[in-house]
Amino acid sequence: MNHISETAVHISNLNKSFDDLKVLTDISLDIKKGEFLSVIGVSGCGKSTLLRIIGGLETKTEGTLLVNGQEVEKPSRKIGFVFQDHRLLPWLTVEENIKLALDRNQPDADRLVKENLELVGLGDFAKSYPGQLSGGMAQRVAIARALSNKPDILLLDEPFGALDAMTRINMQQELRRIWQQEKITMILITHDIEEAIFLGERVVVLSSRPGRIKKTVPIEEICHIQRTGTAFSSTRDLIFKEFFRDEELPFAYTI
Ligand SMILES: Nc1ncnc2c1ncn2[C@@H]1O[C@H](COP(=O)(O)OP(=O)(O)OP(=O)(O)O)[C@@H](O)[C@H]1O
Ligand SMILES: [Mg+2]
Repeated sequence: MNHISETAVHISNLNKSFDDLKVLTDISLDIKKGEFLSVIGVSGCGKSTLLRIIGGLETKTEGTLLVNGQEVEKPSRKIGFVFQDHRLLPWLTVEENIKLALDRNQPDADRLVKENLELVGLGDFAKSYPGQLSGGMAQRVAIARALSNKPDILLLDEPFGALDAMTRINMQQELRRIWQQEKITMILITHDIEEAIFLGERVVVLSSRPGRIKKTVPIEEICHIQRTGTAFSSTRDLIFKEFFRDEELPFAYTI
């Protein structure tokens, strides 16, 4: 297999500005097919913008972006998106919400909905309405909806940001299981350093706006199994320091 066919996302020297506001600067990044990449950075540094550009929801200003070797011109069903809020329509059932995202000519709609609801552990909730679900369950439906289109790449923009700590840990574990099972390339944006380490094979740390890549940290396999212990805590310390390095801290703090 050559280098290009193993690369899911190729980004080089990418810049993004909104009028005079520089948001992303000189981003270069290659993401392998099947890789799980976490991206962290402070609020407003351009994380969502980067993800939206990869997903074809926003245009780049300069540079190269190739997804599966092709320029991205518009959103595609091959690139799934999970947002911070679940974005389910309250007047439709879980099943109807997922079907709405599918291609109208998809002959396997019923099977895809069923399989993906089972994959996220909600096989019995197809006929429920979003208002009858907890926050974590609604977010699982959002993941099932994104997976139903059989994307090559799943983009996750702080998908667990609104959940409590225990549900969040549970969802992280579920997402890791789904990634292992489905072997889809996943890019996760998060504020949460521990979440980034637990899930990512690499963690990209962005600087504050204009966002640029400060460091890319490879994560040891043990960190995906054990959240305590020296490997996890030393990685967390390293990323914590990198996260705040050269940033203006609003409080007296030693890192
Ligand atoms: N469509 C837009 N038009 C103008 N400015 C925008 C637009 N979208 C984002 N921005 C600006 O770009 C900057 C980065 O926004 P972005 O949403 O990418 O940040 P973020 O890192 O995802 O932040 P957060 O962690 O709070 O979600 C912000 O200053 C924001 O105001
Ligand atoms: Mg954001």
